[in-house]
Amino acid sequence: MKLLSRKAACNTHGQDSSYFLGWQEYEKNPYDESHNPTGIIQMGLAENQLSFDLLESWLASNPDAAGFKRDGQSIFRELALFQDYHGLPDFKKALVEFMSEIRGNKVSFDPKKLVLTAGATSANETLMFCLADPGEAFLLPTPYYPGFDRDLKWRTGVEIVPIKCTSSNGFRITESALEEAYQAAGKRNLKVKGVLVTNPSNPLGTTLSRHELNLLLSFVTEKGIHLISDEIYSGTVFSSPGFLSVMEILMDKKYSMNTEVWKRVHIVYSLSKDLGLPGFRVGAIYSNDDVVVEAATKMSSFGLVSSQTQYLLSAMLSDKKFRKNYISENQKRLRHRQEMLISGLESAGIRCLKSNAGLFCWVDMRHLLSSETFDAEMELWKKIVYDVGLNISPGSSCHCDEPGWFRVCFANMSAATLNLAIQRIKLFVQSTAAGSKQNQSYHQSLNNSRRKSLTKWVFRLSFDGREPDER
Ligand SMILES: Cc1ncc(COP(=O)(O)O)c(C=O)c1O
Repeated sequence: MKLLSRKAACNTHGQDSSYFLGWQEYEKNPYDESHNPTGIIQMGLAENQLSFDLLESWLASNPDAAGFKRDGQSIFRELALFQDYHGLPDFKKALVEFMSEIRGNKVSFDPKKLVLTAGATSANETLMFCLADPGEAFLLPTPYYPGFDRDLKWRTGVEIVPIKCTSSNGFRITESALEEAYQAAGKRNLKVKGVLVTNPSNPLGTTLSRHELNLLLSFVTEKGIHLISDEIYSGTVFSSPGFLSVMEILMDKKYSMNTEVWKRVHIVYSLSKDLGLPGFRVGAIYSNDDVVVEAATKMSSFGLVSSQTQYLLSAMLSDKKFRKNYISENQKRLRHRQEMLISGLESAGIRCLKSNAGLFCWVDMRHLLSSETFDAEMELWKKIVYDVGLNISPGSSCHCDEPGWFRVCFANMSAATLNLAIQRIKLFVQSTAAGSKQNQSYHQSLNNSRRKSLTKWVFRLSFDGREPDER
């Protein structure tokens, strides 16, 4: 008898993707400046640790919020008993105000159309459950966030069909790519229920242009399908062009008069990235369709936000001065970090896709591949993880169509650690000098001597006690 159900055992979860394997390798040998200086530096985790001091100083000056108190009186019992899946009204109001502030107050959100969820993970899955039946499909531009295989497909039985975007136009969404994806779904006998985009994009770190958003809205209008815009990184846009939410485009008369498309656009949001609180599990769905809001609210029972979290964050986010300052200061810090990574990589001869948002860069290492294949991408990735000591995410884990691209995170570490990571990659590139004869002989000697002849900076990392070649 099998121990697990088919659902629990089914591998559409994607945990064997190199995206998650890299995390496992990091866990085995994590870098620490004093205790493990040769360990792996985690650059595969899109966390924002740059503005904790701003949150901490707000907490220090507002002790009631974190101490379950209101006007000095304990509200512990009230919070302990609260379990309405509609959420605390004050929190929903504060959250929509924060969302508007991020969009330069050009869009306003109605708290009645907001459904609270345990992070964007839960929001995305809930929307899949609400909008599609098992075996139906959503179209997603590639490359996309590796977690979507788990979040959108695993438990719902929904299929993902890629909208293939390429480096030839900076991975922009085109009309023909949308149409081709729709046709490809048809060939697989999959009914398409919608398109899901991340804006700003994970892993590209770019925002969708007005042209792309109009293209998407025309496409979903013509096909009579949904559009989900995962805007979890909306507050991380740090340089021009600024962020344009699909909701802002929808306010244009052309769309707002068309109730069909107005109701078919849904936004996903979370405080995991913009506020750097993935552990708090705060996410939301925003929809103009009452039917979707009602269904998602019922489903949200499986992933509610705890009442003490709602209480604390409603106080924090309704503090106008705090949120305004936080948003701009956080963006400034992110921009500095991104510039630091880009210039560091450039000095190693590595270029990034031009980006203006996010907690990562989309890095072009095609010139470092031994051949233009995904096998070569894996080979390079393993070297970077085990020899160089950096966990980055290969493009193939994001379903990128072209080998040689990697997502590299910059906001989950100190500036000193980022500098060290840049030094490591520079030395690696210098010693490989890919593409040249020198490189070929380098690779040969690497194999022959089973890496024993590598220069001092290249340290061997343990992998089940075996040499990498024996795996
Ligand atoms: C595009 C995107 N959506 C959703 C998530 C999940 O976020 P959360 O921690 O809010 O569940 C992530 C996390 O990396 C993400 O990048």
